Amino acid sequence: MHPVEFIEKKRDGGTHGAAELREWIEAYVAGEVPDYQMAAWLMAVYFQGMSPEETAGLTLAMAYSGEVLDLSSLGKTVDKHSSGGVGDKTTLVVAPILAAAGLVVAKMSGRGLAHTGGTIDKLESIPGWRAELSDEEFMRQAREVGLVIAGQSKNLAPADGKMYALRDVTGTVPSIPLIASSIMSKKLAAGARIITLDVKVGRGAFMKNVDDARRLAELMVGIGRHAGRDVRAVLSQMDQPLGRAVGNAIEVREAIATLNGEGPRDLEELSLALAEEALEAAGIEKERAAAVWRSGAALDRLRAFIEAQGGDGRVVEEPERLELAPDVFELRASEDGVVAALDAYRVGMATLRLGGGRERKNAPIDHGVGVYLLKKIGEPVRAGEVLARVHHRGGRGLEEALELLGSAYELAETATPPPLLLDVVA
Ligand code: URA
Repeated sequence: MHPVEFIEKKRDGGTHGAAELREWIEAYVAGEVPDYQMAAWLMAVYFQGMSPEETAGLTLAMAYSGEVLDLSSLGKTVDKHSSGGVGDKTTLVVAPILAAAGLVVAKMSGRGLAHTGGTIDKLESIPGWRAELSDEEFMRQAREVGLVIAGQSKNLAPADGKMYALRDVTGTVPSIPLIASSIMSKKLAAGARIITLDVKVGRGAFMKNVDDARRLAELMVGIGRHAGRDVRAVLSQMDQPLGRAVGNAIEVREAIATLNGEGPRDLEELSLALAEEALEAAGIEKERAAAVWRSGAALDRLRAFIEAQGGDGRVVEEPERLELAPDVFELRASEDGVVAALDAYRVGMATLRLGGGRERKNAPIDHGVGVYLLKKIGEPVRAGEVLARVHHRGGRGLEEALELLGSAYELAETATPPPLLLDVVA
């Protein structure tokens, strides 16, 4: 392996073979290829792209750079993954539905990234809930509860952990082959047979238009199939946040309300679509999703899952046990109109500024802060009416958050909400 020649090959538009990609990734994880050479290569990929075959080769090399879980003893295992959005708490709704419908949801989830939230951060707002599980605990809970969500293990696709951190600081995140290999390497290493992807499109997503999102989805579905997994992708709109709650504890409250049949319509619609895709892939009637939702079986499963991981299961009946920051600012409309835009990126950034996300890796976050959007696209508003409630702690980050939120809202004379479900790639 000659790193400089390897980098030059991609710089000049060449195509890598699977064996040299494996060697490259192995050398990087072993510390033989330094970050600056990997960064140069990532930038070359960003500009030159990769063929589907190369992307599959890279993904496998990354997936096998560490431990690969064997979940074959657990029956029909399913994983659900979102490409990253704002207000996206669908895992908290979909996973209990799938477990209640008879599948085994055994998954690893990440923490928030940039303006997007992470499932583990949300779950950690539940008193006592813990993300770190031993391999034995993980497998036992999968078997006994049918639902386990752990923090990303350092041993799982370690190449992705190192490469993602580098991409984040070298402007090489928004590359379709790099995103596809990053997501799918983790999914393949995590072992589930059925993988349901939610590919977000719009202002608050990494993919800004439907064509790019479809290319990403097709690539990921192809890679998964090549590796013997059943992968389906739903393309969903992320111009405005999903649901009305953005933050951590506030999003868990909204997920619980949704399982109780009292959630926002968009969250219900997307959660049902994702659950139905996973059930169909598993050969189970898709109507089971709505049935276990309505019967309360999914909510029971959520409680069992929370308690199995040390959390206070009473939050399911008493969501007020999920502490929200006590200081509240009401953002009001300055004129009459209809909400024509609600920029998800800015809402995500506002939550970050309040302390609900991380500006630096591993920084602590405030689970209680967040935003509740009383008005979304297509909804009329009168001058002086509340657009959004901002939960802050002692004014931290409030000024900047209000500026971001104020500019996230655009009013017009008329507007219709954009369609939520854009396509399915299977
Ligand atoms: N999510 C990931 O896991 N990786 C990416 O590259 C982008 C989103």
